[in-house]
Amino acid sequence: EFKKLVFSGVQPTGNLHLGNYLGAIRRFVALQEGNDCIYCVVDMHALTAQLVHEDMPSQTRSIAAAFIAAGIDPEKHIVFNQSAVPQHAELAWIFNCVARIGWMNRMTQFKDKAGKDREQASLGLYAYPSLMAADILVYRATHVPVGEDQKQHLELARDIAMKFNLDYAEHISRTGYGVDITVGNEPVHAYFPMVEPLIGGPAPRVMSLRDGTKKMSKSDPSDLSRINLMDDEDAISKKIRKAKTDPDGLPSEIDGLQGRPEADNLVAIYAALADKSKADVLAEFGGQQFSIFKPALVELAINVLAPITGEMRRLMDDTSHIDAILRKGGERARARAEVTMRQVRDIIGF
Ligand code: ADP
Ligand code: NA
Repeated sequence: EFKKLVFSGVQPTGNLHLGNYLGAIRRFVALQEGNDCIYCVVDMHALTAQLVHEDMPSQTRSIAAAFIAAGIDPEKHIVFNQSAVPQHAELAWIFNCVARIGWMNRMTQFKDKAGKDREQASLGLYAYPSLMAADILVYRATHVPVGEDQKQHLELARDIAMKFNLDYAEHISRTGYGVDITVGNEPVHAYFPMVEPLIGGPAPRVMSLRDGTKKMSKSDPSDLSRINLMDDEDAISKKIRKAKTDPDGLPSEIDGLQGRPEADNLVAIYAALADKSKADVLAEFGGQQFSIFKPALVELAINVLAPITGEMRRLMDDTSHIDAILRKGGERARARAEVTMRQVRDIIGF
């Protein structure tokens, strides 16, 4: 069996929003208890869509500050930035040779991000999921908390791990680095684990506040579509008050949210922020109008987010503290990644 190990990453691009917080960061915090966790600011991924970032160092610090402000303990766990550990890129190259072009062609995020002129997208954007697989597997991590948008990339990581394990099966046996696991009902002597996506909670996919069919995203041109972690109370209040809804009030049963994506989204956000189920929220607010529910959501969002925003601001004022955390985290991550890479080089015959 592989030792249970949690890995996830967030890109240092643009403002963090409520989707990143509820889909990812908040769950990183909860997983600390009883697990070994590695949380990464994936700065190399930030180059895939845009080559030049004037403020990369400050963006990187602000993601690390969000991790710490949300409650991640960088002493017990590891917080670092990806480019500090070149082993990620080394393994990604090997995975580029393992992954098949047909697999990459199925990635819906590439199609979305590349837009119409796919010929002009970078090769890095195309290979992004292969680097993501390397980010995880260079620690032989087993569990990956992410939002629902990353599900397909994690399936690809499993395919890559499986093909590596099978193609190098003899070498893995010979070197003695493998671990006996079962995949389905098959016993496999594997070097890389089959990563388990941890996608869940009441809000695995937080939607735009302006359009219930699109996910809340950093890249949405409308700032009203998302709540940013750095928004002040007035901005949070304004965005929730202006959030698109339908004319009906809240239903008392979950079924009543069907075909009402905006209503469903606001209930899911409330549930996630309050650490309740959507059913609990409807038990409380069912039959009420949005004119009652929205102010309650504003108050809850401010109560949860304001302390985090305040702590992020404080941390960003003293960059030496965050820089020290990233430096130490980078050293620890590098040492662990190098253990894997020494074995991988051996398995391959380098
Ligand atoms: P973005 O998608 O905004 O560019 P990242 O790719 O850095 O952000 O994603 C960081 C984490 O946040 C990932 O685990 C991703 O799945 C999660 N995430 C991003 N957007 C959402 C959303 N709207 N709802 C839930 N989780 C999300
Ligand atoms: Na994403």
